[in-house]
Amino acid sequence: MTNPLLGSPAWNALSDHAAATRDVQVRDLFAADVRRFDMFSITADGLLLDYSKQRVTADTLRLLRELWAAAGVPGMYARMRAGEEINHTEHRAVLHHALRSQSETPVMCDGRDVMPGVRRVLDHMRGFCDAIHSRRWRGAGGDVITDIVSIGIGGSDLGPRMATQALAAHHVRNVRVHYVANLDGADLATTLAMLLPRTTLFVIASKTFTTQETMQNARSARAWLTAALGEAAVARHFVAVSTHLAEVAAFGIDTANAFEFWDWVGGRFSLWSAIGLPLALAIGFENFSRLLEGGAAMDRHFDTAPLEENLPATLALLDVWNGNFLGAESRAVLPYSNSLGLLPRYLQQLEMESNGKAVGRDGRPVGHATSPVVWGEPGTNGQHAFYQLIHQSGKLIPCEFIAARAADFPLPGHHAKLLANCFAQSEALMRGRTLDEARAGLAAAGRPAAEIELLAPYQMFPGNQPSTTLLLPAITPFTVGQLIALYEHKTFALGALWHLNSFDQWGVEYGKQLAARLLPMIEGKTVVQDLDASTAGLIAACRKT
Ligand code: F6P
Repeated sequence: MTNPLLGSPAWNALSDHAAATRDVQVRDLFAADVRRFDMFSITADGLLLDYSKQRVTADTLRLLRELWAAAGVPGMYARMRAGEEINHTEHRAVLHHALRSQSETPVMCDGRDVMPGVRRVLDHMRGFCDAIHSRRWRGAGGDVITDIVSIGIGGSDLGPRMATQALAAHHVRNVRVHYVANLDGADLATTLAMLLPRTTLFVIASKTFTTQETMQNARSARAWLTAALGEAAVARHFVAVSTHLAEVAAFGIDTANAFEFWDWVGGRFSLWSAIGLPLALAIGFENFSRLLEGGAAMDRHFDTAPLEENLPATLALLDVWNGNFLGAESRAVLPYSNSLGLLPRYLQQLEMESNGKAVGRDGRPVGHATSPVVWGEPGTNGQHAFYQLIHQSGKLIPCEFIAARAADFPLPGHHAKLLANCFAQSEALMRGRTLDEARAGLAAAGRPAAEIELLAPYQMFPGNQPSTTLLLPAITPFTVGQLIALYEHKTFALGALWHLNSFDQWGVEYGKQLAARLLPMIEGKTVVQDLDASTAGLIAACRKT
């Protein structure tokens, strides 16, 4: 069976509507209706989502909302909130929202309230942040800790790393937080080159505490530390975050210095758990609490806002419209904020690891496109790199602009220009420029007739490139919390619409298994055999060096 939505009246109505509106130009829709911005923008809890530059009409939205009802998204959400094992391939509940809960309501999993455990770990994190920031926690030789190195990968890295950069304006002054993820020794080596063992503390962050990259980096970090300070120093310079405390102990980290989380927290949804410890160390626990509050505010919004005013639901439905009915294969995430520079990378994991799947909840192909390729760079840098293709290649690339009304680093002369560029890009993508307009522009610039005819075709822009703009009041712990939870809910909703389990990631396992088989061959410990000629040839080339 495919996604039951396929071929349903709601799906078919959208297909027909897409065919009927194929030639609609958004610039004409703006010209025809002065209320377009009011009709297709949402203001909620200080956030503004303008999706009026998408290729949508009131009918499109009505049909998309009918699809939402037909897909039973609210029912799946209720099952998630009730602690059911909606991650059925891993037999796990999905309860990351409990980590940011601001209410006294119990959150049940397997007949037990998870909230006392959540509060206990948050208290542990608060105490540890306090000890580091107040300089009570000292290294083995009595030195103050000045540098924290977080070692983790994927969900145990991208969230805290992204938010640490996003909240640079809110950093605590007396510690620096660094992130190491890559198995390539260059990542760790170049980080350690800046640091002193006696003033450095490592946070080893891994849900499983078996991930090859993290364990290798942790072992190398430990060798670096013990070479300078001896084995006994490990207790004062290593802490761990994991769901597997036995593995933490086996690595030699005192479990008193381990921060627990639970199976019902997926890696890419784990920023709110103790995985956020390096972030809390960077911004202070009070700011980390504000981030949790922002996430909880977005939970309340998703739970209570009607569909027409619901930010995550609207973003999810626009992805369905663009991907399943207009044929877009990617989505560009374009933060006009240097601080949000890692957001595209973070969303790559959140969205593509969650919904980059073709097999549905019933084990059969869903029968339609799922997650777009998510990519992007902060503006204005991207303008000078790949925007050319978005403007003039003719490819359909929905764009997501994200900006803050207020600057987080308010240097005179910067922020208004940044916003002008952001809004100009979405305007240009929507309006385009006709051949006649290009000619007129060249004529107005005083170009001779022959030059006008030569250049006009190159200065024509097809336009009609859909975009949304999300405007934050400012980049603060609270709004970053809102933003992350917004995308989490959107990702969940898309999974429900696409009939997927958004919470497993079997696609990353196969390569790990093959790498384990190739390693002894590359190290020369076993013979190179039973491989295709390409893989064997590459290994042979490395063994020669
Ligand atoms: O990339 C696969 C993955 O399992 C992610 O889902 C996870 O966030 C990452 O590896 C790291 O895993 P761990 O936290 O167990 O080290």
